[in-house]
Amino acid sequence: MSEVQSEIQGPLATETSKYTRNNPYASTVVLNYLLSGEGSEKETRHIAFSLEEGMTYTPGDSIGVNPEHRAEAVAEVLTALGFTGNERVLDHYKVEISFEEALRNRLAIGKLTRGSIGQYARLPGAPGVGGRGYAELKALIGPENKARAEEYCSGREFIDLITDFPGALARPQELFNVLPRLTPRLYSIASSQALHPNTAETSVRVVRYDSHGRARQGVCSGQLGERATVGAVLPVFLHSNQYFRLPEDPSAPVIMVGPGTGVAPFRAFLEERQAKGESGDNWLFFGDQHRATDFLYEEQFTAMMKDGTLTRLDTAFSRDQAQKIYVQDRMAEHAEELYAWLECGAYFYVCGDATHMARSVELALLDAIAKGSNSTPDRAVEYLAAMKNQKRYQRDIY
Ligand SMILES: Cc1cc2nc3c(=O)[nH]c(=O)nc-3n(C[C@H](O)[C@H](O)[C@H](O)COP(=O)(O)OP(=O)(O)OC[C@H]3O[C@@H](n4cnc5c(N)ncnc54)[C@H](O)[C@@H]3O)c2cc1C
Ligand SMILES: NC(=O)c1ccc[n+]([C@@H]2O[C@H](COP(=O)([O-])OP(=O)(O)OC[C@H]3O[C@@H](n4cnc5c(N)ncnc54)[C@H](OP(=O)(O)O)[C@@H]3O)[C@@H](O)[C@H]2O)c1
Repeated sequence: MSEVQSEIQGPLATETSKYTRNNPYASTVVLNYLLSGEGSEKETRHIAFSLEEGMTYTPGDSIGVNPEHRAEAVAEVLTALGFTGNERVLDHYKVEISFEEALRNRLAIGKLTRGSIGQYARLPGAPGVGGRGYAELKALIGPENKARAEEYCSGREFIDLITDFPGALARPQELFNVLPRLTPRLYSIASSQALHPNTAETSVRVVRYDSHGRARQGVCSGQLGERATVGAVLPVFLHSNQYFRLPEDPSAPVIMVGPGTGVAPFRAFLEERQAKGESGDNWLFFGDQHRATDFLYEEQFTAMMKDGTLTRLDTAFSRDQAQKIYVQDRMAEHAEELYAWLECGAYFYVCGDATHMARSVELALLDAIAKGSNSTPDRAVEYLAAMKNQKRYQRDIY
């Protein structure tokens, strides 16, 4: 789980304005266009949401979207379960709704969890399951079968479970004990309100993949990519993140490392500093697969280099040559200069992939500190710890 996602309930990460995940704002999509070019392996989109007067955000914040499953996915589950969707159920707040609505926007029918398998196998009707049968279903539950269940869950969704093991669910209401709640998805805000007073803009990578013989898509990014055309209305809320903020001192330099959609908050940072005429130097490291198709916001960043908003822009296009080049390689190439910026009080920000990139970037930062200061790795760790204390090392990773 991301640092931010885990802090979502914390005191410093709050839902701003009167709108919250449980009382979202009905926002209109005002922009939705492809950022990635034709031929890219990824589909990354620039999507802007309208805001009501009084809804304010600060660069570093994100916007939450309460998603809906696509109609075909809901219909498939209904067919597999043998219901029409018109059955009545009580939602998590004991409000009566149709089963179709429950499947559309209350219950997470996407990615399968071990917990759901366990609950499904414990339903009163489970001993009568068809398909692969009750014995095989039971072999997926309990602590002793954790690894096997995790392997089964990988790349599978609820539809796979009820296709492989049909017939356990006797009443639609029972599904509230089986499936987790469908939760909002957060997207880093990629705009400054100084330039876009009425919108929150985002950079969304549409998740699509094939697994176990099915074409799948991410619940929310799929909705944003396919069914949130300009004019569509979606429930959203603003989500504040006090842990990811530009320096209070407008003259302080900043170094930003944001590969892929990790660049989103840095577009917001740069727009903010540009609009406010802040004098601090700005250095951006951006990386993605190919320069020709994946250089997100290339035109805007190039213009920012020309007008001096950006002091430095270093790019790492991983697949434009035989050997991969990543943002941390660019950091290593410029280790001495990077350290000189830190010595001038630069703030260092990282956004994007938490699984691999963030750690590699931290190691490259420690190397740059050790090299630049001609000191030991231990001293570099102390230097970074001091930066953290001064809030000069901030990450928003997911
Ligand atoms: C603070 C924060 C900021 C974020 N900012 C951004 C942002 O700016 N832009 C952005 O695009 N996203 C951002 N995200 C991620 C975003 O919130 C969603 O997690 C993302 O869009 C996926 O949600 P989804 O509903 O589309 O996919 P889901 O339905 O949640 O499915 C995603 C899941 O599908 C599975 N999966 C994905 N690919 C594969 C595969 N190839 N094989 C097998 N399984 C796979 C994985 O289990 C993955 O967790 C951010 C997240 C956080 C916490
Ligand atoms: N939960 C989800 O399903 C979901 C949905 C959307 C985005 N995300 C996450 O959002 C983040 C951004 O996604 P994205 O597709 O825009 O970009 P990304 O996957 O982070 O890729 C951007 C660039 O980073 C490179 N990269 C890969 N491994 C790296 C490493 N260890 N260190 C540094 N760079 C590395 C990639 O190179 P190569 O690809 O050539 O190796 C690519 O050039 C990732 O965490 C992604 O998983 C998650």
